[in-house]
Parts: sequence; structure tokens; C-alpha cells
Amino acid sequence: MAASPKKQLILNAFAMQSPSHLNPGLHRYPPDQGHQYTSLQHWIRVAQKLEAAKFHAIFFADVLGGYDVYKGPANLEPTIPAGAQFPINDPLYSIPALAAATETIAFGVTASTTYDAPYAMARRFSTVDHLSNGRVGWNIVTSYLDSAARNFGLNTQIEHDERYRMADEYLDVTYKLWEGSWRDGAVNERDGVAGYADPKAVRQINHKGKYFNVPGPHICEPSRQRTPFLLQAGTSSAGKAFAAKHAEAIFLNGQSPELVKPSVASVREQAKALGRDPASIKIVAGVLVIVAETDEAAQAKYDELVKYGDREGALALFGGWSGYDLSGYTDDQDFRFVEQPAVRSMVNHWASTVPGGEGKKWTRATIAEHLIMGGNGSKIIGGPQAVADELERWVEVADVDGFNLSYASIPETFDDIVTYLVPELQRRGLFHTEYAVKGGTMRENMSGQPGQTRLSDSHPGAQYFWKKGEEVPRYAAEEARAN
Ligand SMILES: Cc1cc2nc3c(=O)[nH]c(=O)nc-3n(C[C@H](O)[C@H](O)[C@H](O)COP(=O)(O)O)c2cc1C
Repeated sequence: MAASPKKQLILNAFAMQSPSHLNPGLHRYPPDQGHQYTSLQHWIRVAQKLEAAKFHAIFFADVLGGYDVYKGPANLEPTIPAGAQFPINDPLYSIPALAAATETIAFGVTASTTYDAPYAMARRFSTVDHLSNGRVGWNIVTSYLDSAARNFGLNTQIEHDERYRMADEYLDVTYKLWEGSWRDGAVNERDGVAGYADPKAVRQINHKGKYFNVPGPHICEPSRQRTPFLLQAGTSSAGKAFAAKHAEAIFLNGQSPELVKPSVASVREQAKALGRDPASIKIVAGVLVIVAETDEAAQAKYDELVKYGDREGALALFGGWSGYDLSGYTDDQDFRFVEQPAVRSMVNHWASTVPGGEGKKWTRATIAEHLIMGGNGSKIIGGPQAVADELERWVEVADVDGFNLSYASIPETFDDIVTYLVPELQRRGLFHTEYAVKGGTMRENMSGQPGQTRLSDSHPGAQYFWKKGEEVPRYAAEEARAN
């Protein structure tokens, strides 16, 4: 009997339109082009290179404020010299240009449900889905920086789980706009004489909820995917429940596949309980891969790169992610034993899971060193064989579907992956040599299913579909009957 084919990996590049993303200070490493983040040509070069290597997507992270907690409050002095996710451009604007310069690679873009109105957000993503021919995804975030909250007119952030409750209603609004406001065929079958579209095939959504009131209709006509491909990365209980309901791809970070395995299993179980096909949810782990011709060369590259990291910038990132300012302690304070329970538990977790973390003193310097490249994702350093072995282990142990590859230096880290790792993965039958659908949508290529341009029928957004022959979408007819 023939062996069953191996799971085909998803490979995404994990990037940010900022001098550094998960590599504070690395803009000082001479080959690094992070400072070119304002150049469209720079991103076009990156996108074309990754498309030639058949990467599925570039996933652009984004934040709406500075990392100003460390040595704070409201202090960006450690952040700015490190270029630590500051300054940062809005990634969405570049997508149509990147799409015009490529054919199939897709683009995930982060946008926040906490600070942007759903009506405006739905319009922006429809526009970009049109202009990219269905190649845009939305990384749904609820945001985590107080600095963003203050700049959007709040004194402090909206409470964590409340942000997810808002996000859940937000998604209902956008599904209604994307899926339930224009009937299938409204534009294409306009009867020739009747005008641009059939007015009876465009309806108000009349959404009245706890957080949002949006009458509609959706101001854009349906794009190829309608709902952009949906990505999410929440690690709390509320975040995971949200992901299990809405996300088509989920990002997870963790030091080892053994640690990530229960999260993968739990999110798939929750999705199943909601009536979704658990295998249809793509789980993508964040990793930093430093690969070279040999194990020794890769380690030497890592040792060289790490010299350029900005320790203060790494501590600033920690401050923003955790909300804790580590500056008020002595240099030799071991954070495994501090009073603040959240910091203590985070650092103890690292101490027991980061390779070589046990028996080490977890001072500020240790924390900075841990976060300086690749953030809190796993780091895999080695020659092509060793790295491919480890990625295969992640798939076997944790049941992940692929990887979000961060960079220590752009584009060098990706160049090395393309030169050394991709051919090895292809040789092992783990990575495709051609896209599932050349010129296809993000949803088709992420799912590997030609023709799957719209949300799958088991996705909660599908209940809003307005199909041909229906006077109003089924959900609206049911609501009218219930009232
Ligand atoms: C791999 C990964 C990537 C993320 N990217 C972003 C991002 O670009 N912007 C953002 O605001 N949050 C980002 N987050 C944060 C999450 O979306 C989420 O807001 C955060 O984890 C807090 O939610 P939680 O409490 O459910 O974990 C990311 C998280 C992970 C694990």
C-alpha cells in the first residue's frame, strides 16, 4: 500500500512595515534592509522573491501605538533608537501594489476591531480584495497597547474580554455587509437594461446591536472572496474561543511542539463543537529559522546577528506585550522570584521551556536576550536537514499546518530560507512546488482547495449568504419570522 501523502506545509513570511518587527536594533546589521520599510520597491522585491519560492502569504503584523511602558509611563526613549515597531506604516495601502507585481502570493493584514468602525473596515477590505483579485486576508486583533487606547480618545484600554465581546458583534456586522447585503449575481445579471445592478438585490442590513448600529447597505459591490480570508492570534480563553468560531487560520507561538499541542487540540475541539470542520482550520506556528549550509554556519550566523540586537528595545517590546515595566529592578534581579504574579509566571514558564532556560538566572538581560530575535516564538537554528527535521517534528507532535517565519534580518533571513530550507522541504514532499491555484484567491491557496473562494458552508459567516432566488437572505427571513 502506498504511504499516505504528507501534510503540505503552509509557509508565510511574518513581517511588519517598520524598521524592525521581532528584531529590535537589527537595522544596524549592515546587510539589513529594515530601514527600507517605507519603499514600495523594497516590499515588491520581497513579495516577488517569496512568490518565486511559492510562499503562501506575507502576513503583516501591525500596532496602533508605541511601546511606551518600559521606563515609562508614556516613554518612547528606549523604543525609538531600536526602531522597535516604531515608526510604523499602515500595511493595507501597499497591498494593491504588491498584488499588481505578483500573481498568486496572498497578503494577510492586521486590523483592529477595537479602534475602527466595522462599516469603514468592511469597505477598505472589500476595496483591497477587489484590487488584489481576492488575495487579501484580515488578521483580526483586539489590540493590547494602552498607548493606542489613549490616542483613540480613551483613558485606558477597554477591558480584555469586553474587547472580544465587541469583536464578536463586529464580525457579525461585517459578515452581514460582505455576505448578506448584495445578492449573488446582483451585478453580473443586471438584465442589460435595468442599470448597473438590480436594486432589489442590494439591501440594508439594519444591524442594531449592543455595540454597533449599522443600517448599510455595504457600499462596495461583492469582491472575489467577499469576506477576506480570516486570521486570528489570541492566546487567552476568550481569544481562543473567538478564533475557534471565526478564524480560518490561527497563529500560535510557543517554545516547542509539545507545549503547543494542547492549544491546537483545544482550538480544533472548540471549532468542532461549533459545527465547523476542525481540519479546515489552518494552524500556523510562529518560528524564527536561521538556516545556512551547515549547522555550524547557521549557529555562527545567529551569533553574529544577535550582537546587533538592541536590549533596551527588547525590554520595550516586553513592556508593551505584558504591560509590565521591568526598569524598576536591579540588574541582578531574578524575575522568577518577583512579587508581580503575571511577570513571575511568564518568566518561570520561559525558564522551564526555553532550551537552556533551566538553571539560568532570569535577569533583565536574560529576558532581553530571549526576546531579541523572533520575539516569543521558537527559534530553530541549523543546516537544512536539522531545520527540516524540527519542522517535521512540529507537524507530527503538535498537528500544526505550517509556519509563520519571522526574520532576524530582512531580506537575508528569507533568502537563506529560500536557498537552503525550501528545496529540502520540497525534497521531503512537505512543501509544494506549485500553488494549488495559480492566480487564485487567498482562501483557495490557504485551504489548498480550488474553487473555495467563499467562506466554507460550516463557517458562521455562511449563515449570512444571500443566494440567488432568495428575496432576502435566509437569516433575515428567519429573523423577520421570529419577530
Ligand atoms: C503570532 C502572533 C501575532 C500577533 N500579531 C499581532 C498584531 O500584528 N497586532 C496586534 O495588535 N496583536 C497581535 N497579536 C496579539 C493577538 O492578536 C492578541 O491581541 C493578543 O494575543 C491578546 O489577546 P489574547 O489575550 O487573547 O492573547 C499577535 C499574537 C500572536 C501570537
